[in-house]
Amino acid sequence: MAGLKKAGANWVDGERFFDRQAELDVLSDRVRNGTHTLLTAQRRMGKTSLVRELLRRLTDEGRFQTVFVDLEDARTAADAVAEIAVQSRPAQHAWRRIKVGFDNALRGIAERVDTVAVAEVHVKLRAGIDAGNWRQKGGEVWAALAENDRSVVLAIDELPILVNRMLKDDDYRITPEGKRAVDELLSWLRRHGQEHQGRICLIVSGSVGLEPILRQAGLSAHANIFSPLDLKPWDEQTALDCLAALAEGCGLDLPLAARRAMCRRLRCLVPHHVQRFFDSLDEDLRLARRRRATVEDVERVYTAEMLGVRGQVDLDHYESRLKQVLEPEGYRDALDLLTEASMSDGMLRREAIDRFRDYFRVRAEGDPVPIGDVLRVLEHDGYLEAREDGYRFVSGLLQDWWRARHGQFFVPVGQRAARSGA
Ligand SMILES: Nc1ncnc2c1ncn2[C@@H]1O[C@H](COP(=O)(O)OP(=O)(O)O)[C@@H](O)[C@H]1O
Ligand SMILES: [Mg+2]
Repeated sequence: MAGLKKAGANWVDGERFFDRQAELDVLSDRVRNGTHTLLTAQRRMGKTSLVRELLRRLTDEGRFQTVFVDLEDARTAADAVAEIAVQSRPAQHAWRRIKVGFDNALRGIAERVDTVAVAEVHVKLRAGIDAGNWRQKGGEVWAALAENDRSVVLAIDELPILVNRMLKDDDYRITPEGKRAVDELLSWLRRHGQEHQGRICLIVSGSVGLEPILRQAGLSAHANIFSPLDLKPWDEQTALDCLAALAEGCGLDLPLAARRAMCRRLRCLVPHHVQRFFDSLDEDLRLARRRRATVEDVERVYTAEMLGVRGQVDLDHYESRLKQVLEPEGYRDALDLLTEASMSDGMLRREAIDRFRDYFRVRAEGDPVPIGDVLRVLEHDGYLEAREDGYRFVSGLLQDWWRARHGQFFVPVGQRAARSGA
């Protein structure tokens, strides 16, 4: 088996990218048919990597022009339009037309495409777009892309983050203005997506689920121009193969028993967690000047490193995303539900859910958030999966993290409900 290069902190493509052949095939077919895709999965599943690798391959083939836009830092529809416009630069035909639309702003701008030049273009473009004209300016960008010589694959990453940000105030509550702004942005996207179908193919992705957010806001219909694609964790064989390829790539002897032990600990094989585990193990053995891993090494590194302070940094990320998606009351409820599950062998049983329902009702300061809504978000974001007798933590790692972080002051719901009723 050929060696695989280790991943860095960011998305991967090329010689660092492993497998995902089925998803790459599905997405290529969709691009050829002009079908728009909404790529969903919990964070760190490899959405950005998958899209980047797809665009890399499509670019190599030469049939499509690809444009990648990241909306992580965008705050308004105008920001989004500016970002799409800037990133359209590689589509040279389209870019010439876009420049005409922003004539004065871009006069004398350098033709270089290094980071400094891109930042400069961004600032100038952004200055020409405001709340009053973003629709029209954005429409011109769409039209220019639609008339590009090669048809365009337009990947928009982290759109749900922008939507969520526009929708809510600083306390993470949905506001009427936010709802109106999101409605406008998504209608605009939908209209142009439909109008230019066949010339521009959209791949929208993001680490916060778009559906739960739109459902909360009553805007679900906007997602209906997209065919969903749900990116799943790796199956065990793929993760075992990936670990073998990584080991090969950096000269580590990692026997099957040790790789199996790694998968057993993680349970849910999120590519990022697989990479992270491998990296910790490799580093640990390097420090000990050993190049052969045992099952005992795997167990030690799991407890000391993966569950340790360094590993827990990832959990902060998970928690902050949860906070963004749920309003404050729902967020508090979610923390309780997950802690209960992590302290009960990963299971949140029906009886516990019933007790929590009563307890949350008593505790709520305003309107209680329906417990079903909270559970739906936890399910959608990959924390819990529905079972016959309740819900269960999907990932062994997340369950162990949660327990380590929140277990200390745990009071079972049975005891709390009794108190609140007294
Ligand atoms: N196909 C893949 N091959 C190898 N590693 C991957 C792959 N997909 C994801 N990863 C790992 O997961 C990490 C996060 O990937 P990323 O694409 O940023 O996820 P997302 O966009 O879903 O949050 C990467 O840094 C890499 O370590
Ligand atoms: Mg991403």
